[in-house]
Amino acid sequence: MLSWPEQVVRVQSLSESGIRTIPNRYIKPLTERSVFKPGSQVHQHADIPVIDLHNLFHKDPALHLDTLSRISAACRDWGFFQAVNHGVSHELMRRACQVWSDFFNLPLEVKQEYANTPATYEGYGSRLGVEKGAILDWSDYFFLHYLPVSLRNQNKWPEQPSSCREVVAEYGGEVVKLCRILLRAMSTDLGLEENYIENAFGGDNMGACLRVNMYPKCPQPELTLGLSSHSDPGGITILLPDRGLARLQVLNDGDWITVNPVPDSLIVIVGDQIQVLSNAIYKSVEHRVVVSSAKDGVSLAMFFNPKSDLVIEPAKEVVSEERPPLYEAMTFDRYRLHMRMKGPCGKARLESLKFNTP
Ligand code: OGA
Ligand code: NI
Repeated sequence: MLSWPEQVVRVQSLSESGIRTIPNRYIKPLTERSVFKPGSQVHQHADIPVIDLHNLFHKDPALHLDTLSRISAACRDWGFFQAVNHGVSHELMRRACQVWSDFFNLPLEVKQEYANTPATYEGYGSRLGVEKGAILDWSDYFFLHYLPVSLRNQNKWPEQPSSCREVVAEYGGEVVKLCRILLRAMSTDLGLEENYIENAFGGDNMGACLRVNMYPKCPQPELTLGLSSHSDPGGITILLPDRGLARLQVLNDGDWITVNPVPDSLIVIVGDQIQVLSNAIYKSVEHRVVVSSAKDGVSLAMFFNPKSDLVIEPAKEVVSEERPPLYEAMTFDRYRLHMRMKGPCGKARLESLKFNTP
């Protein structure tokens, strides 16, 4: 049975203890630190893709195709976009954020009842990876399974606040619908059958997990990160970002760009399995989270993944003699182990799947 290599420290407790300097364990090497200064240097990039999904269902084929081509360009050039008119109720989004921020404000003893281990990661956690002495991120989180139904166990979800389980169930349901719509659009754009990606991920047995990230205030935000650079290992992620501050940064053409969330948008992040399946026509995006000395923040990341024992490989339809398969076939279970053991490592895991070219 896997366990943590050293005593777990809750970052929120550290933050609330009033320390003025952060422990060495959270200090990142210079090259990994962010130049971000809250409030003053939010790098607004005019070309960050914002896509209105409403017309995806328009009867006028021109409007439908226009939306599809925007999704296509965003997935090829960025590996991410902000979605508006995405169909998820804004009121439900607010309730979901509220219930989780209330959860993190419960007394420590209550949260500790859900303390997780690296065996499954389900529950209340404060680190990714099990390497003793690793430099850690400035965040806590709660991780739970939503799909497949066989892995869903509401007893592992917080019992308090009293509406938490109900809100998670409702929010999950709406985000799953959005996910299916996006996977169909992506399949179509890649020249695959509409249900291709969904089926490759296991259809009704596709995995969906929620990670709620809590980014406590940090007295020395420039020295650390809320979440180190990584690409999401799974298929796609639908992220409800923190409303208060622009914290998410994405790597594009070698530059880190701060995403200033459009109100009520959801962020769609392309993960490694879609890069593999599309044979790198779509790119997974490297991203990280910066912290602030002024405000805590909560974000909800819903990950959609292949069922854990399915083998994912480049689709036959996207490979050819001119474009041979770039990646080795692998089950998601095996692929994900790397992040679970070593923590966030940029795109190193995906690189390791590449066939050696002479
Ligand atoms: C993640 C993630 C970003 C955020 O949970 O994988 O990238 O803004 N989260 O919390
Ligand atoms: Ni991520």
